[in-house]
Amino acid sequence: MNLTLRPVSRLAGEVSVPGDKSITHRALLLGALGEGPSRVRGYLDGGDCRATIGCLRALGIRVEEVAPGEIVVHGRGLRGWDAPEAPLDCVRSGTTMRLLAGLLAGQPFASVLGGDPQLLRRPMDRVAAPLRRMGADIRGVDERDAPPLTVRPGRLHGTAHDLPVASAQVKSCLLLAGLYAEGETVVREPAPSRDHTERMLRARGVRLASEGLCHALEGPAEHLAAVDAQVPGDFSSAAYWVAAGILAPAGEVRIRHVGVNPTRTGLLDALAAMGAKIRQENARDEGGEPVADLLIRPGALRGADVAGDLVPRMIDEFPVLALAATQAEGLTRVRDAAELRVKETDRIATVCAALRALGAQIEERPDGFDVHGPTPLRGTEVESHGDHRLAMTLAIAGLIAEGETVVRGAERIADSYPGFEEALATLTGGTLP
Ligand code: S3P
Repeated sequence: MNLTLRPVSRLAGEVSVPGDKSITHRALLLGALGEGPSRVRGYLDGGDCRATIGCLRALGIRVEEVAPGEIVVHGRGLRGWDAPEAPLDCVRSGTTMRLLAGLLAGQPFASVLGGDPQLLRRPMDRVAAPLRRMGADIRGVDERDAPPLTVRPGRLHGTAHDLPVASAQVKSCLLLAGLYAEGETVVREPAPSRDHTERMLRARGVRLASEGLCHALEGPAEHLAAVDAQVPGDFSSAAYWVAAGILAPAGEVRIRHVGVNPTRTGLLDALAAMGAKIRQENARDEGGEPVADLLIRPGALRGADVAGDLVPRMIDEFPVLALAATQAEGLTRVRDAAELRVKETDRIATVCAALRALGAQIEERPDGFDVHGPTPLRGTEVESHGDHRLAMTLAIAGLIAEGETVVRGAERIADSYPGFEEALATLTGGTLP
């Protein structure tokens, strides 16, 4: 599917974004391990979370869609899942595969985790190797543990892990395996990554202590409480309207009910360093997560350096940051972000190629990119390579590029943001530009 865009003269209005993808995955998985039903309100009904629902159903869990945006997961306890009859299909969802790998490692039955070719190219040794150190019997199809992953029953024991990269997926996988391990599972991360798993495990009664970058879980867990969850809007989806609202020639954008967990909002810090003024209003706490409304007005940007601990706090926002940097005065340098090369696509390569096709001055670096701005963008046909975040970034680029921008592969947007086009139409005054 192609999405065609034209430049806008203003962007104005109010939108709310769909539920947080990371929190939805976790609410589903932890709900399935709970003692009885858990209600999840505001869940993300997108492709990636549907993959998690599909896997849970194959593991014998009843997942009931009771109303729009509301789902009930009928948990069967930590040890009540059924052996799946066929390989579990994680589709394109890395979070589904990595978090389930940790949980399945502790089950008394065998399973296989597979998915689409895009997912089968992503590294799984980062979870398989530390799980094996805990006693898990898990392997991929080659020496680098490329998926599909085959998991057989194993006896897990608590182990201390020093993560080489800050990855919430790896941290979460190991802590979830720790629920089934004898003794203490310790995970030390090199920089803070999103902490939804820790918050949600503690809320469900798990003995998990976090001190700075070190997380220690006392296993095995006896049971997990069934807890109803309210999912905040996904900051990573709001990020497109944040960038669009700054780059638009005029107007004012308000985004309601956005999760602003500080482990997720690195983009706001990066944009503030670039001179953007973004207001957070109505700050509140909801179901253990900070939530606020965001108010964005157009403004001039200047280049900045983005590196170090900021990187994991905005790991999914680099495509849209790169776009914003094309309109910033001077040089924007991104470093320490080699992880981008193993996302849905090699996002350093695909983002640089796509923005260059639109006229940007952007060069790849091994662990990031350099952007020289500002450069006017010219619309053309651009490829999103099946990457939802690149597709949305290019759609926002189309709002400021001269002429017509055609985004190829836009159907993948629904992996994380069903309703993206409708929100765009709201902000552009009723129809797509
Ligand atoms: C996620 C963690 C991040 C992020 C992904 C979702 C999660 O991946 O890119 O979209 O839900 O834990 P890494 O932890 O591998 O960086």
